[in-house]
Amino acid sequence: MRSLNYPVVIVNFKIYIESTGKRGLELAKLAEKAYKETGVCIAVAPQAPDIRLIAENTDIPVLAQHIDPMTPGAGTGAILAEAVKEAGAVGTLINHSEKRLTLADIDACIKRARQVGLISLVCTNTPEVTYATAALNPDIIAYEPPELIGTGIPVSKAKPEAVTEALQLVEKINPHLPVLCGAGISTGEDVKKALELGTKGVLLASGVVKAKDPYKILVDMAKACL
Ligand code: G3P
Repeated sequence: MRSLNYPVVIVNFKIYIESTGKRGLELAKLAEKAYKETGVCIAVAPQAPDIRLIAENTDIPVLAQHIDPMTPGAGTGAILAEAVKEAGAVGTLINHSEKRLTLADIDACIKRARQVGLISLVCTNTPEVTYATAALNPDIIAYEPPELIGTGIPVSKAKPEAVTEALQLVEKINPHLPVLCGAGISTGEDVKKALELGTKGVLLASGVVKAKDPYKILVDMAKACL
């Protein structure tokens, strides 16, 4: 269960208090339970200090939220790809809308991830960034229009044409590169629509992290993938 497979539901824990520390582990355990019950891959992206706790106490894929484009040495405060890998992550988000990088740094992060054996999942915010990112050859792209992030308005329903455009742009460069979408995804229906558009899954946060019953939502989302 540790490696990513498709379709995938990835829950970004961001820095919500509900998904920090021990509460993050509890949420990850619910994700693990929903994964085991449905057989649909559910991965989580906790804050860096919580990666080891979650990786050592669950069997699900754990991603970092960010790495820096740096090599071991002097670099106080940076997040090193090697450290994330050793803590138990199988991959990392890169260039999330809340942690944007230059194109040069995205390129460097993808290469650093590959050097240490981490899956690189690059978030993109526009058609242009999506197209440019595809040329950098990451392992996964997640298209997330920033204006819908955290709104509960699902990209798959509110902007299906933007998701389709992202898929078409990536296909021109690399038809084998998996594309996810995210922003506002909150229900199984939203996930189903995302898959119908041709994505390989979703990246989401508040719809699960802030839910009264996250387990129920996770199971609904996973079942929508079957
Ligand atoms: O990385 C997931 C994300 O930015 C979407 O957030 O809260 O709209 O699901 P949310």
